[in-house]
Amino acid sequence: MSLCTLKEVLSYAKDKKAAIPAFNIDNMEIIQSIFKASEEEEYPVILAVGQAAIRDGRMALLAAAARAFAEKSPIPVVIHLDHGQSLEQVRMALDCGFTSVMIDGSKLPFGKNVRISEETLKLAKAAGASVEAELGCILGVEDDISHDDNKPFLVRTEDVKAFNEAVTVDALAVGIGNAHGIYKGLPNLDFERLSEVNDISKVPLVLHGGSGIPADMIQKAISLGIRKINVATEIRLAYVKGITGAVECGDFYPIANAGKAEVYDLVKGKIQLFKNGMVK
Ligand code: 13P
Repeated sequence: MSLCTLKEVLSYAKDKKAAIPAFNIDNMEIIQSIFKASEEEEYPVILAVGQAAIRDGRMALLAAAARAFAEKSPIPVVIHLDHGQSLEQVRMALDCGFTSVMIDGSKLPFGKNVRISEETLKLAKAAGASVEAELGCILGVEDDISHDDNKPFLVRTEDVKAFNEAVTVDALAVGIGNAHGIYKGLPNLDFERLSEVNDISKVPLVLHGGSGIPADMIQKAISLGIRKINVATEIRLAYVKGITGAVECGDFYPIANAGKAEVYDLVKGKIQLFKNGMVK
């Protein structure tokens, strides 16, 4: 059994000055490809179940599949709830055996974000799981969120300080200009803000919206304390590219395998990049 918590893999990432990938899993083929690449790279992996998969009724199924693979795998594996929307959803995930839950209180006023994160911690602690919280707005699908500074979507250092003092989560997702989905042009990441936040944060930092961020920016983010990087859109696009390229043959397994091959290549490349700086 190689299931472990987010806290455990992030402590490994801190030691290695590297980041652990959180890949969204949406179906069996994607899970298979992620395990193959991660095992070859002998690197921990976070399998994230997101809101689209949950809306499609896949939470328990994906968790069960991930767990079955993890039981036979030599690498550390975290099963993680991505952008948990409520305590009810957190409870459901913990009942399904998730070893880590994110509570996304970033749309809430600061005090309510602290309180829902505290409640999530109580539930997660009782189940032996880790907790990720979020401060600042991650653009894209979350673009209705704003903070009242002159760069409204950026995490504020004073909020990080106050949040850290109020509640001790295991990881903190920060908005530094990152966005979900594919960026139109180059991402405009505020590394100065990331550096300021890293200087005061007591917990490892998380970069959402990892799809389409160029390698040099990823390396810089890791050097400034990012320890978990989420990738969803690029995984889905790779899978769709693979299956659509093979669809002419009309045969299930060749089509499924073409999807798997694309996801495998993508995941392998991301792991090699996120290992950047890894101390041998
Ligand atoms: P992307 O879809 O941009 O890779 O973002 C993934 C993510 O941050 C999931 O929480």
